[in-house]
Amino acid sequence: MDILIKNGTIVNADKSFGADILIINGKIAEIGTSLSATSTKTEIIDANGKYIIPGGIDPHVHLHLPGPAGFSSDDFYTGSKAALYGGTTSFIDFVTPRKGQNLIEALHERKKEASTSLIDHTFHVSPIEWRDSIPEEIKACVAEGITSFKIYVAYLDTIGLKDKDIQKVMKAVAEAGGTITVHCELGEEVDRLRKEFIDSDRTSPKYHPLSRPNYVESKAVKKAIEFADVAGCPIYIVHVSTKESLEHIKKAQQKGQQVFAETCPHYLLLDDSRYLGNFEKTSPFVMSPPLRKKEDNEALWQAVADGTIQTIGTDHCPFTLDQKKYGIHDFTKIPNGAGGIEHRIALLYTYGVLTNRINFSRFVELVSTNPAKIFGLYPKKGVVKIGSDADIVVWNPETENTISAKIHWQNCDLNIYEGIKTTGEAECVIVRGVVRVRRLKSPLHVEATSVAPLKKTK
Ligand code: URP
Ligand code: ZN
Repeated sequence: MDILIKNGTIVNADKSFGADILIINGKIAEIGTSLSATSTKTEIIDANGKYIIPGGIDPHVHLHLPGPAGFSSDDFYTGSKAALYGGTTSFIDFVTPRKGQNLIEALHERKKEASTSLIDHTFHVSPIEWRDSIPEEIKACVAEGITSFKIYVAYLDTIGLKDKDIQKVMKAVAEAGGTITVHCELGEEVDRLRKEFIDSDRTSPKYHPLSRPNYVESKAVKKAIEFADVAGCPIYIVHVSTKESLEHIKKAQQKGQQVFAETCPHYLLLDDSRYLGNFEKTSPFVMSPPLRKKEDNEALWQAVADGTIQTIGTDHCPFTLDQKKYGIHDFTKIPNGAGGIEHRIALLYTYGVLTNRINFSRFVELVSTNPAKIFGLYPKKGVVKIGSDADIVVWNPETENTISAKIHWQNCDLNIYEGIKTTGEAECVIVRGVVRVRRLKSPLHVEATSVAPLKKTK
């Protein structure tokens, strides 16, 4: 069915303006003033007083991620549904092959696992080891539309790469025209510190941040940037959490190197005081990198505002309290990660736009346009423009909410943003021309929300 959105204010990364939008066959067909319905069947949405923004793109999520404590608790269906309610209409997940597995085979397996997703998605593919066929495997992935290859400087005992292999993979990615995405923490140093704590019986979650101090990240960031410079490949640094890392990133960007940086709402809004207390209170915040100091929060906000940071991802990777208890006697065994896919946009709007740290267009750039540009989805995604996919959010700037695990859509009994207030909400979410979320005016969460039949997208 065609859709006509009337009277809204369109906000793109470069400008905002009042206009109507006509959607035909899943695409934006017209943008203009006083547009008319194509037929009596056209659905008309009145967006008076609302903003129209391109659907959010979360560049960093781990749905159905396997681990010793079980899979991350959101699968592709529940996680994508939570994303939709938060105004996110695309995400980028990960392909982590088994040892010895061809990257293309792993990509095909992961695509099948993701087939229950309600929204569009793509993947960062991870070469977790070097072999002579890796350059060809990378090229084959690029031929299938993959633009990003994720490597881990951390996790040396499982998926992390040693320096010489990082350099080889970067060269292969540069030759294939891809981007290197990198998790920066010095694996050997983390392993050394963890062992020191566990050997001396310091086993509670409060030792998690102490085993991954700021320098563990920033030294890895420096090294990865230097390697990427030599290899000549663009580099995207995920979940930047420290002020020291920002200095290395800024310096490289000023020299003209293609260095992109992502941070997450939790590194902007939460700090390491969350590790004080009992296991139930603190284990939800065990993620890597860990939460940092308030001064890091502030430096990150500054970098979000001045353009050093290009994207906001969530690193969505929720685990239930029961799963977290896998590490109740040993913090190194606590499954790392927390959810956030549902809250990214409202948190950045509330604590970024409404506090005047960033303007509305910059907000759109961070949550949608830049992820689309960096990972090859633009201008199909990331912009409200004629010809683009009709992935559109009607944003009500006034709705007030309080985040809670009791009412969120994420499949988890924990929420690291529990009790945090937000202003602004995705009132209507359209995915490729189909209304997927339509919130009505009522204080009750479940009853307040009616959803068009949620079917799989291709
Ligand atoms: O703690 C985190 N970040 N968990 C998700 C997996 C990863 O390391 O990105
Ligand atoms: Zn991650």
